[in-house]
Amino acid sequence: MSEQDWHRVAGPDELQPGAVRMAKAGPCLIALIRTEDGYSALDNACPHMGGPLGQGMIEDGRLVCPWHGRAYDPQTGACDGYAEGATVFETEQRDDGVYVAVPAGTA
Ligand code: FES
Repeated sequence: MSEQDWHRVAGPDELQPGAVRMAKAGPCLIALIRTEDGYSALDNACPHMGGPLGQGMIEDGRLVCPWHGRAYDPQTGACDGYAEGATVFETEQRDDGVYVAVPAGTA
């Protein structure tokens, strides 16, 4: 199992369910998402053409890319109708906020 570095990306209740925003997890730009299922994090760059998923919207439980409308499962990164999904980062809600893990040594 590879090493990971955890980064605090938000306060405990900074995002309401249904909210999405871009955040920095150490060197990585992520899309931080909160749904009724909790927090999750995807790579901010959409696998299609690099659109900013952190500027997307939650619709019917999916994160919709603002550029061409591909829809991603916020928890698994799976893309509706396409084989290529978004990269998922492990996320934890702790007492002092939301933490996201990125591979150690990511520059
Ligand atoms: S860049 Fe995201 S759907 Fe095209």
